[in-house]
Amino acid sequence: MATAPANLERQIRVRIKRFNPEQDKRPYWAEYNVTARTTDRVLDVLHQIKWEMDGTLSFRRSCAHGICGSDAMLINGVNRLACKVLVKDLGDTISVEPIRGLRVIKDMIVDMEPFFDSYKAVLPYFINDTPAPSGERYQSPEDREIFDATTKCILCAACTTSCPVFWANGSYIGPAAIVNAHRFIFDSRDEGTADRLEVLGKANGLWRCRTAYNCTEACPRGIPVTQAIEDVKRELLWRRT
Ligand code: SF4
Ligand code: F3S
Ligand code: FES
Repeated sequence: MATAPANLERQIRVRIKRFNPEQDKRPYWAEYNVTARTTDRVLDVLHQIKWEMDGTLSFRRSCAHGICGSDAMLINGVNRLACKVLVKDLGDTISVEPIRGLRVIKDMIVDMEPFFDSYKAVLPYFINDTPAPSGERYQSPEDREIFDATTKCILCAACTTSCPVFWANGSYIGPAAIVNAHRFIFDSRDEGTADRLEVLGKANGLWRCRTAYNCTEACPRGIPVTQAIEDVKRELLWRRT
């Protein structure tokens, strides 16, 4: 029996929500017919369109391997990383849109400044004013395990921009910031918890969360985002009593 070629090709239709605020009154859908291989990811298809069909298409990407977090976009209505989704898993028509809730600069490129402002507000770095010991700051494997999941965040914004609370109120600090606060709040060596909880306890902080779970479903790193938010809520309540 003949063996099928390793890279089967097929025709797909790619619908991309385009918008250039300098030229367009409103966003519109552009369509491209593309020959894709079964091994292609959505990022490969976007490259093919940009490099061979329409050089004006704009999107961010860097590592192409699920590490840098720069190519989060809405693919067939779901927040994903374009470099991690295989075309063969999406059917013959693929839709691509920018992530929601952030201002579109051009096509898939959104203004990430508000997202990073929230991230910076939770002091996402190690704080410890106790003089350093002569050796290492020891931490047991069990203590390290408590915040292991939240160390895996790549700041792609898929969680925050899938949150209905964030869509309605762009001032909500958002799940990504809370995840990155969690990473330090539960680090036994850190001493900045009170400052972080003060930020998170404010009006647009973590009490805005309505446990919608979209964030957990959207996270390409499999971080239990909602669980992390609930952990931080409990910590805040515990410290208030
Ligand atoms: Fe992305 Fe997950 Fe981090 Fe949110 S928690 S920014 S979805 S990696
Ligand atoms: Fe939003 Fe996630 Fe809470 S989707 S409402 S931050 S559980
Ligand atoms: Fe870096 Fe996709 S390009 S995560």
